[in-house]
Amino acid sequence: MLQVRVTRKSMDAEDVAVLELASVDEERQPLPAFSAGAHIDVQLPNGLVRQYSLCNSPADSHRYQIGVLRDSASRGGSTAVHDLIKEGTTLEISSPRNHFPLAIEASHSILLAGGIGVTPILSMAERLSAIDAPFDFHYCTRSLQCTAFHSRILASAFATRVSFHHDDGDEGQKLHLRELLDSHREATGVHLYVCGPQGFLDWVIQSAEAAGWPAAQLHYEYFGAEVSKSNSDAEFEVQVSSSGLLVRVLGGQSVVEALAQHGVQVETSCEQGVCGTCVTRVLRGTPDHRDHYLTAQEHAANNQFMPCCSRSKSPVLVLDL
Ligand code: FES
Repeated sequence: MLQVRVTRKSMDAEDVAVLELASVDEERQPLPAFSAGAHIDVQLPNGLVRQYSLCNSPADSHRYQIGVLRDSASRGGSTAVHDLIKEGTTLEISSPRNHFPLAIEASHSILLAGGIGVTPILSMAERLSAIDAPFDFHYCTRSLQCTAFHSRILASAFATRVSFHHDDGDEGQKLHLRELLDSHREATGVHLYVCGPQGFLDWVIQSAEAAGWPAAQLHYEYFGAEVSKSNSDAEFEVQVSSSGLLVRVLGGQSVVEALAQHGVQVETSCEQGVCGTCVTRVLRGTPDHRDHYLTAQEHAANNQFMPCCSRSKSPVLVLDL
């Protein structure tokens, strides 16, 4: 973990807090370099750990910048950033990790951002602009008022590559996704990157797949996701391989919750199947994958799963715990 200080906190658009973080001891603990699309884990003052994408240029060596939307359905993360963190607050963060990197072989990149999903996309635009790589950037928001980083984008070197699309705007400025996808389908080496809320992401990915885009050229990162959990979910058992302990997982209960009731703690963060923190090896049995973190190939291998949200298709799952 790294110790950082909040050197600047400002508000952007209607409800986005933008934080700049610098090392508390630049001499002894400089900030590690990061690549576009990377995120950090932030230990919040209320004890929660949340992931935030870095939205500044990867060329910045002395600061990290994050943007956090106040979420009305917050489970405590965004509220803590907005209400408990001030300029001067010190925080513990992880080194940057990147599950959403740019493909170096791309001949052209299409960047699609929905709402606060713009944060990793901004960092990608900074990087592609710095290396003079061709790209288009489409940024969809509800309205101009809730378009975070609007002034920064207009003042950037890549401003002419950006198209803004607002839900409350006229038809002409809306994102015509099918046309955009069709216009690049025949070209070789075009990669598409999308980040945003689940509905936006599902729309883009499903449209791209339907338009025949190869999976290897589609890159996405969920910004929180709904966990499908219901009391009518089938019960099953998980076995802790190290002790043999057998635990029943009830409908509407997660594997993490069931294990915790028996004193077995699994580290979690998002609890929505998007961050990868809780990944656990499966030694026997077939998981019912419900996460958005593992790839289709990893799901098919069935040798790991996300116990914060995924369940089991077999009566028993033996876990490497
Ligand atoms: S805690 Fe984030 S994927 Fe499980």
